[in-house]
Amino acid sequence: MRLDKFLCDMQLGTRSQVKAYIKKGTVSVNGTVVKNFDFKLDENNDIVTYLDKVLTYQNLYYYMLHKPAGVVTATKDTQESTVMDLLSDAPGKNLFPIGRLDKDTEGLLLITNDGELAHNLLSPKKHVPKTYFAACMGILTLQKIKLLENGVDIGDTELTHPAHVKLLSQEADTYHIELTITEGRFHQVKRMIAAIDGSVTYLKRISMGGLCLDAALPKGAYRPLNEKEIYDLKQLNNTR
Ligand code: URA
Repeated sequence: MRLDKFLCDMQLGTRSQVKAYIKKGTVSVNGTVVKNFDFKLDENNDIVTYLDKVLTYQNLYYYMLHKPAGVVTATKDTQESTVMDLLSDAPGKNLFPIGRLDKDTEGLLLITNDGELAHNLLSPKKHVPKTYFAACMGILTLQKIKLLENGVDIGDTELTHPAHVKLLSQEADTYHIELTITEGRFHQVKRMIAAIDGSVTYLKRISMGGLCLDAALPKGAYRPLNEKEIYDLKQLNNTR
């Protein structure tokens, strides 16, 4: 890899800015100052420093966003704020959300530029579990729980796949559940609840593929995934 590309990938600046840093003699490779920006290096083994700070190569980035209601899950939108506006200062090129949450849905949204991981997590064949907390209007009978668990008709050609329902509370005509599904159909949770004569008044994704929304992450904030979290998400794909 060329030195200037390496430094750009590391978010040190634009191509012309990093070329200027290199010319100034602020960049070293394996302890030697390098002043030609097309110097070829081995990004995984050579030690590159900028102003004596070691730069460890990273071109794939992984973030957990606590999506608030009111922003759309898109990379660009001419009218609305998007989830990507909340990561405008996050390192990483070509970041995008893995899947989508409705504008009024809150909770865990993964953002990355790792197309392979995104593809695997979204593949219908992988059955990646996603758990939602839902506040609903209606009365959730045992029969309705069974329907959700076995598969309901939401107007598609196939019933929904088996889901897991945890009833948290039922008071008068409102109830709270945690619903775990392994598909990602459009408005799936809302349509599943509508299919049993209820309606969702609040929806939050609390986990995806075993990764839980960090309770310390305020709404609208993001943080990088740690190495174990990234490893676990990748493993999930290998074993399915
Ligand atoms: N199901 C929905 O209905 N909405 C979401 O945002 C996610 C799952």
